[in-house]
Amino acid sequence: MSASTPPTEPHGELVIRTIAMPADTNPSGDIFGGWLMSQMDLGAAIYARNLSRSRVTTVAVDGMAFLNPVSVGDIVNCHASLLKVGHTSMKITVEAWVQRGTDGKMLRVTKGVFTYVAIDQAGRPHPVHRG
Ligand SMILES: CC(C)(COP(=O)(O)OP(=O)(O)OC[C@H]1O[C@@H](n2cnc3c(N)ncnc32)[C@H](O)[C@@H]1OP(=O)(O)O)[C@@H](O)C(=O)NCCC(=O)NCCS
Repeated sequence: MSASTPPTEPHGELVIRTIAMPADTNPSGDIFGGWLMSQMDLGAAIYARNLSRSRVTTVAVDGMAFLNPVSVGDIVNCHASLLKVGHTSMKITVEAWVQRGTDGKMLRVTKGVFTYVAIDQAGRPHPVHRG
């Protein structure tokens, strides 16, 4: 596959699956980008928490791209995969894909890299011990 060819199927573990609802729209009636980012953040945080067996917090989001619009009723799937583990941090690639209508066809709508830090009960970073 060339670098310019968009992927035809999700990469990574399915971490969130939900339906875009009318309450998630912006004043124009389109799905609000912030809602979609929060789904990606939740999904990647689940991935990071399972990986580190620790409480985690989001420290950065990079390369966030909104590639296609999301509509009310779309089934939204977030997929996460590990990009890098540091001393206390984890970089996780997240893609959101939607299924629209009844044919089951998937369309990639966003991508981004979310970075989490493993923290203790006081909120201080501690080393990632992979579970
Ligand atoms: C995340 C937090 C605990 C890190 O504390 P800190 O004192 O900055 O810790 P450090 O400087 O030791 O950095 C910890 C790790 O995060 C990484 N990091 C820090 N800032 C980063 C950034 N902007 N982008 C990517 N990685 C970053 C460091 O490289 C380090 O990784 P490593 O240990 O794998 O090498 C602290 O910044 C914090 O509490 N931030 C708020 C988090 C939050 O509230 N998130 C929710 C947003 S609503």
